Order: sequence, then C-alpha cells, then structure tokens
Amino acid sequence: MSDPNMAFPWDTFAAESYRVFEEGLHTASREETSLYPRFVVTRREDARPIGVTGYYRAHPVLEGYDLWYAICDPTERGKGYGTEAVAITADYLFSNTHVERLGAVCDIKNVPSYRLLESLHFRREGRLRRALFHHGGWHDAFVYGITREDWKGR
Ligand SMILES: CC(C)(COP(=O)(O)OP(=O)(O)OC[C@H]1O[C@@H](n2cnc3c(N)ncnc32)[C@H](O)[C@@H]1OP(=O)(O)O)[C@@H](O)C(=O)NCCC(=O)NCCS
Repeated sequence: MSDPNMAFPWDTFAAESYRVFEEGLHTASREETSLYPRFVVTRREDARPIGVTGYYRAHPVLEGYDLWYAICDPTERGKGYGTEAVAITADYLFSNTHVERLGAVCDIKNVPSYRLLESLHFRREGRLRRALFHHGGWHDAFVYGITREDWKGR
C-alpha cells in the first residue's frame, strides 16, 4: 500500500513510498532530457537521504537547463534544505557548463516551490496554461528563470 505522506503533492515528481524513491535514485535514465536525480539531499544529523535535485534539457533548441527538486521526506520540509540544495545545483551548473540561463517550472499552486525560487532571485517569466496533468486534471504552471549574470549578482 502506498504511503500518502510520501506522495509528492505536485505534478510528475511522484513517489509512492520511501523505498520507491530510493530505488528511483538507482534506476533512472541518465539521459540529459530525463528527470534523473543528480544530487541527493541528506539530513544534517545522520546523512540519511531525504531528497533529490536534478536538471534536464527542457527544449531541443533553446539552451539552458531546467532544475527540479524535491524533499521527499515531508517531515524535513520547511527547514531550508530545498533552498540550499537548489542553490548548490545552480552553482554547479553555472560553474561547470556554459549555459546562460537556468529555469524551473512549477504548478501555480505550489507555493513552497515558487517561494524557494524567488528567494534565490529566479524571476517569474510566464505562465503555461494547462501544461501539467496530475490528480486527474490539467493545471497551469509558472515558468521561472535566472541568468548567469543575475545569479552572480544576487
Ligand atoms: C518545494 C520543496 C522542494 C521546498 O523545499 P523545502 O526544503 O521544504 O523549502 P525551504 O525550507 O527551503 O523553503 C523554501 C521557501 O518556501 C517557503 N515554504 C516552505 N514550506 C512552505 C509551506 N508549507 N507553505 C508556504 N511556504 C512554504 C519557505 O518559507 C521558503 O520561502 P521564504 O524563503 O520566502 O521564507 C518541498 O516543499 C517539496 O519537496 N515539495 C514537494 C515536491 C515538490 O513540489 N517539488 C517541486 C516541484 S516544482
């Protein structure tokens, strides 16, 4: 039986249980366009894995990566892990690739997700109508982005 506390509330970043989440870390495709988890977020006290971040080529023509992130253990949310993990992932990409832009998309009702992005100075660049399908329905998504220059000047 799936643990509802482990189900991610938004979009396609779904894991039915902690075990499914951990297995996913090992089995996901490493293709640049896939949601392969690139970094594991661990708990400060005991290094237990509690979340993941990743990035993917979101568009066949446009340059840049979109970031994704999840603190999969709900008891560890709201403690700053997500913000720190996304900042480290963005630092990594701006230091190790030539892209000028990083982006992220989130359901318009996913307040923690877009507050995280805004606290890191990502700008809301638009709204994609009916772009996500989850929980049996279509939902709008916000598009966020930050340039290399803005990241440096934060
Ligand atoms: C989105 C997510 C990664 C945020 O990570 P987190 O470690 O919980 O967030 P942080 O503690 O770093 O806080 C990030 C911001 O969200 C705010 N926030 C956190 N939990 C919140 C909540 N339940 N309601 C409203 N705001 C919240 C924080 O106050 C902070 O904003 P601030 O800097 O303006 O104060 C996490 O909630 C999560 O994994 N959610 C489920 C998966 C998901 O939605 N992933 C993103 C898909 S786009």
